Amino acid sequence: MNAASQTKDFYGRDFLVSPDVLIPRPETEQLIDQVLVLAGKPFLPGVKPTKRILPQNPTILDVGTGSGCIAITIKKELPEAEVYATDVSEKALRIAQKNAELLDAPITTIMSHLLEKVKRGTLPTPDLIVANLPYVDKNWDWLDKKSLSKEPAIALYAEDNGLKLIKELIKEVKELQIHHLILEADPCQHEAIREYAKKMGLRFKEARGFILYFSV
Ligand SMILES: C[S@@+](CC[C@H](N)C(=O)[O-])C[C@H]1O[C@@H](n2cnc3c(N)ncnc32)[C@H](O)[C@@H]1O
Repeated sequence: MNAASQTKDFYGRDFLVSPDVLIPRPETEQLIDQVLVLAGKPFLPGVKPTKRILPQNPTILDVGTGSGCIAITIKKELPEAEVYATDVSEKALRIAQKNAELLDAPITTIMSHLLEKVKRGTLPTPDLIVANLPYVDKNWDWLDKKSLSKEPAIALYAEDNGLKLIKELIKEVKELQIHHLILEADPCQHEAIREYAKKMGLRFKEARGFILYFSV
């Protein structure tokens, strides 16, 4: 992180950060790679593009946007996408909106608990949901809580071994029949998430580092 300007690089762009948002992590960049794969765009030089799975002009919703790093990067890499970003933290949404302006990325930010605003019809039903929700359990004994203390607890911790919000989101994705879901979680949680998603009727498609991709 650049301490003087309080910015952090994510996917080759500088994002403004503050104590109100999670500092973007390198492992989250693989979520962007997975989105590009679904859009049929090569994400590594020398790699053939894959068959496009998403529609030509996809609607993509980033749930728990924090600094906006995921939503904004998707808009920059896929300008043809209509991108929405939600969070429960008003302060985080302000940082996301500021980053969108600084990086000239026209996205829509809105406060919502998970998919509440999609259910109400305030937001359109997206083709793809991407989410790096809080997935850390406070009781994990390998945590260095001191190093995490500068980031908001609401951005880090979740109950039920870190899976509470992820499970809730999976349930909502199924209810709303949203076609594609890309999640970030610690690899130690992947098996439990895959089992739960299967029980809820989602199909596991691919894993990439911390990232899991499901279709409905
Ligand atoms: C792990 S941070 C991820 C931030 C950003 N997407 C990133 O990857 O750097 C999780 C974000 O989810 C938000 N959040 C927590 N509970 C939520 C909920 N119930 N619905 C929507 N967002 C939530 C937090 O405020 C936080 O900004």
